[in-house]
Amino acid sequence: MLLHDESPLAVEERERAFLLGTYNRTPFHPRSGRGAHLFDADGKPYWDLLGGIAVNVLGHRHPRLVKTLRDEATGLLHISNLYYHPAQGLLAERLVRASGMLRAFFCNSGTEANEAALKFARLANPGRSHVVALKESFHGRTLGSLSMTGHDAYREPFAPLVPGVTFIEPNDVAALEAAITEETCAIFLEPVMGEGGIIPLDVDFLAAARKAADRTGAILVFDEIQCGLGRTGTMFAFEQTGIVPDAVTLAKPLGGGLPLGAVVIGPALDGFVKPGHHGTTFGGNPLACRLGAIVFDETRKLLPRVQTMGDWFGNELRKLQARSSAIVDVRGSGLMWGIELDRPASAVARELLAHGIVVGTAREKVLRLLPPYVTPKKALSEFIGALESVLGVTTEKAA
Ligand SMILES: Cc1ncc(COP(=O)(O)O)c(C=O)c1O
Repeated sequence: MLLHDESPLAVEERERAFLLGTYNRTPFHPRSGRGAHLFDADGKPYWDLLGGIAVNVLGHRHPRLVKTLRDEATGLLHISNLYYHPAQGLLAERLVRASGMLRAFFCNSGTEANEAALKFARLANPGRSHVVALKESFHGRTLGSLSMTGHDAYREPFAPLVPGVTFIEPNDVAALEAAITEETCAIFLEPVMGEGGIIPLDVDFLAAARKAADRTGAILVFDEIQCGLGRTGTMFAFEQTGIVPDAVTLAKPLGGGLPLGAVVIGPALDGFVKPGHHGTTFGGNPLACRLGAIVFDETRKLLPRVQTMGDWFGNELRKLQARSSAIVDVRGSGLMWGIELDRPASAVARELLAHGIVVGTAREKVLRLLPPYVTPKKALSEFIGALESVLGVTTEKAA
């Protein structure tokens, strides 16, 4: 009977009938996983080089996550933020100590983290509502975060949005300096832009943002929802730049696969947020925070691996680029890579899927890789081989 049929065809049919069509799903049915492997409904293995879009940093079925889930299953799954529970403080202490910042607030998602950071910036800068953000940035889908997202197609159907956002080109120092004034409440930047196609921001640009924020009192927020928590080889991407923001927003891997986001604030925001200013029913869920502490501790151990694997993989990608005229550019570090192609990336991603490799895309022509930190070299080598065969034997560029 259809109601209990979980075959791929029945799953797709039921979704078509009963779900809102917000996603253009690929007909791929992962049902289980282990480490960097996913297995589809027929048991076929795939290398998971997208990691649930930067979420599954410890791979699938990580023994410590599984054990904690089992241990906590008979504990409190929810308590409300009216009362105390050890889990939030344990994770907050880790985030605060590692970032050198002061305090954390927990929510459920990336977009909520940016909403909260925007509200906190308003509290610190009463009467100021101007925000500077970047073209092709992505900060989330709720109205505040969407208002700061520099992708017209995402914003336009929902206009009018929160007013007062100026979008400038990434890495344009002159435009940044001109845009930030005494009226600016906050500056939102992704140190490595994810949805925008894996665009690392220049240290000079971040330094100029820091200087302009200091000059005007604007709050500098780094959205590390995609590039943070070990992704680029350090716990926070900003550590590699020497530029410290006033707040950093986190989500994606933070809850070990459960919904969890955070804003970690520094001195410029300390003392402004009072009881009643902000809150959430589910944010900082005990189970998600328990998993978060494990994600944090395991990630810290994996950082050297992310760095060395990233250096090796970057070299391999550049060698492939030298062999293939279909590759226009290779950008990234650690285990966050964008491969810009001369053709639509979605068709290439579909072909890679047929080769047993899951990758993502960004913008029209960028393949996006955000694999688990436990991904073996073999998986990345197989990806290089598969990509080369999918792109076909292309002209020798050196000739
Ligand atoms: C940099 C960045 N900020 C914010 C978000 C929004 O996060 P969420 O989908 O959890 O709301 C994303 C999601 O892709 C992101 O990559």
